[in-house]
Amino acid sequence: ETLDATGLHLLPGAIDVHVHFREPGYTHKEDWRTGTEAASMGGVTTVFEMPNTNPPTRSVAELRRKQDCAQKACVDFGLYGLMAEDNVAELEALAAAGANAFKCFMGNTFGNLPSPSTGAMLEGFEIAAALGLRVSLHAETASIMAWRQARLEAAGLDHPLAHIGARPEIVAIEAVGRAAALAEWTGARIHVLHISSAGELVPLADAKRRGVDVTGETCPCYLMLDSRDYARLGPVIRVNPPVREAKDSAALWDALRSGVVDMIATDHAPHTPEEKRRGRIWDADCGFPGVETQMPLMLTAVNEGRITLEDYVGMSAVKPARAFGLWPMKGRIAPGAHADIAVVDLARRETVAADRLHSRGRITPFEGVETVGAPVHTLVRGRLVQRDRRLVEGVAGWGRQVTDIQRMPAPRPRNADQSLRALLAGGRP
Ligand code: DOR
Ligand code: ZN
Ligand code: ZN
Repeated sequence: ETLDATGLHLLPGAIDVHVHFREPGYTHKEDWRTGTEAASMGGVTTVFEMPNTNPPTRSVAELRRKQDCAQKACVDFGLYGLMAEDNVAELEALAAAGANAFKCFMGNTFGNLPSPSTGAMLEGFEIAAALGLRVSLHAETASIMAWRQARLEAAGLDHPLAHIGARPEIVAIEAVGRAAALAEWTGARIHVLHISSAGELVPLADAKRRGVDVTGETCPCYLMLDSRDYARLGPVIRVNPPVREAKDSAALWDALRSGVVDMIATDHAPHTPEEKRRGRIWDADCGFPGVETQMPLMLTAVNEGRITLEDYVGMSAVKPARAFGLWPMKGRIAPGAHADIAVVDLARRETVAADRLHSRGRITPFEGVETVGAPVHTLVRGRLVQRDRRLVEGVAGWGRQVTDIQRMPAPRPRNADQSLRALLAGGRP
């Protein structure tokens, strides 16, 4: 069988460092087959999967269980180990068992994992720095959130924008600033997930200026939706952190172009239509699928002249590969790189429709959006997993964990001049 690519373009397959594939525990929302099939349809050849499954991925046994679940993946994947209050002692073993990065939930979200104290984060960051693994942060401060939510609940929570009110941008600004201070002190590499506001860009840019190894991502919903969409979309738009104001999306586009925000990820967070439409916005589960629609939505932005195609390759593949240690094997089309390729038709017109998504979460805030540009074939390490906008049969299990190709960066020097560890080992402060 030959593949005709007349008039088409080659892009490195997208590397989405932020997906929730729900298995084990919530397979009515997604599993490793449906999640990776959605990725292959979206031109995404590597995903990094989050630990807020049931059970959460917080010990070696739980990581092994997830590796078993992921046996049926058709695209390559990395796995996050949880960094929580009660598993700091497990982090080294998690890394040895193949965790590719750590995820720290500074604020509460789906899965109800408690946020670690700043002290536990400090210790976790020291360990991650020594291991050379990046720590990705859900950067929202739990205590501010709880306080605001309680005030709003007392007042009735009725306003459609109360979801923003309970999570004002200060919730994220405070968390980004605090995480950056800990990273600077410990030498940890960090990644700020789902940047949603103009405000967060200030501590992010400042930390970069100070030399902290910090990267940041935003997601299509924060670029393409804003507070004017709440009335139209109702509970479907509910996501943590929330979609904010038009001034925020404008600042995020600028930050992507300037490089302050490094990459696009999706926070692919599928829930069933019933779980999204339970009534008021407060009753809906947070998040929606995204791994399948990211590339068509962002190629539309390329066609509109908002970003260049080169910018897009940087934010979808090059920079995620560098940040998470996959460079130079993935994230580029060049001699020696894996043939992880999205073959795109930059002129292809499609309309986003939930009932055509391959995710189990068949509901999207982008319903009805017309896109220009789509991946018409997807290759993972040279093998076609999507062809002519259809899944290829028999590719379940082709996906591999990236552990064996990941280049662990050298440990980062610490700024810390004393550590608890040294004290406990009998050293002097
Ligand atoms: O909206 C969200 N959904 N935000 C998160 O941080 C978690 C995610 C999920 O797992 O559903
Ligand atoms: Zn999150
Ligand atoms: Zn997430």
